[in-house]
Amino acid sequence: MKKYEEAKKLFFQKPLDGISEKTISIHHDKLYDGYIKKYKEIQEKFKNADKPSANATFSELRELKLEEGFAADAVLLHEAYFDILGGDGKPDGKIIDAVSKDFGSFDIWQEEFKALGLSSRGWVILAYDFNDGKLHNYLADMHNQGGIWGTSPILVLDVYEHAYFIDYGSDRKSYIEAFFNNLDWKAINKKFSKVMGE
Ligand SMILES: [Fe+2]
Repeated sequence: MKKYEEAKKLFFQKPLDGISEKTISIHHDKLYDGYIKKYKEIQEKFKNADKPSANATFSELRELKLEEGFAADAVLLHEAYFDILGGDGKPDGKIIDAVSKDFGSFDIWQEEFKALGLSSRGWVILAYDFNDGKLHNYLADMHNQGGIWGTSPILVLDVYEHAYFIDYGSDRKSYIEAFFNNLDWKAINKKFSKVMGE
């Protein structure tokens, strides 16, 4: 499967414990898939975009490039989110040691990550930063905002309302608990190993 070409299939069966089939279907089949379609549409339109009229206030070229970043990051973050769901929620593996080393303890990391989940308007991302060789929690209000160059997402939480409003209304805190209860720590460790080149 080529990146940005087609939707990645879910690795788990719907529903999850506390996240309904309806929520996951809309989220994966409509919204995530929609970002892939838009990314491809942008690539096509960019080929014939009007370069002589390039302008920093408004131009076709500028708008297409901006939205390319928005769509691409939406695809990448949603894939990272769905990839790590479907597990038993029991923290395990070497990511625990790495998080403990960089945050002080697993509990300190978890408390911060969950609090950021209540603070963000879009995403919370545990990522490895190749610049300083450490794990960091990042907050992104939009797909293409809040990330740092040279980092790789490991554990990604979507807190847009579409991720939980059907199941929890405005009770985002309960959704975040459900997210943690469904985490697949094997998949998270696999992702961490891949990022570390192991
Ligand atoms: Fe989402």
